[in-house]
Amino acid sequence: MQARGPLMIEHRLIEEMLNVIKRTLEHVEQAQAIDPYFVDTAVDFIRVYADRTHHGKEEDIMFRDLRKKQLSKEDRLLMDELIEDHIFSRATTRALVEANMRYREGNKAAFGEVAACLKTLVEFYPKHIKKEDDVFFPAARIYFSDIEDQAMLNEFWEFDRKMIHEKYKAIVKEFAEK
Ligand SMILES: [Fe+2]
Ligand SMILES: [Fe+2]
Repeated sequence: MQARGPLMIEHRLIEEMLNVIKRTLEHVEQAQAIDPYFVDTAVDFIRVYADRTHHGKEEDIMFRDLRKKQLSKEDRLLMDELIEDHIFSRATTRALVEANMRYREGNKAAFGEVAACLKTLVEFYPKHIKKEDDVFFPAARIYFSDIEDQAMLNEFWEFDRKMIHEKYKAIVKEFAEK
């Protein structure tokens, strides 16, 4: 498998989750009410899976190695754009968490903000995936030898191996400090 393999497999699960959110939005918009626990689960998926685990491998390993290469202007600009996309998704998720907190506390008007943030993510993220799958990943592959690509893949597996421990250590730490 090439290094981009696991990243593209992760894109498929992210797309599935986005479809779940999309279907949920269709239902809740009529009722003008949403289950805040569903939002918690969506946020956990976005933060731990899509951001920390998936963007983590992209930014901390693949983009790090690409910075050592002489990228074409076009590829460099696209990499910057992808990083901006990651930042935008983090900011939208933060706004979603805050709106969900207000909604949970009884502020019914916050429903609109929760739904708007979810809608933003559902509309924006597939475009980000498409840029990577169709344009950036194939372009990036050319800068790496087969050995470098396999080294990156091995680093991806090691990165993933640590994730579950990182997540639950963080949860215990959060409760222990309360
Ligand atoms: Fe990305
Ligand atoms: Fe990605």
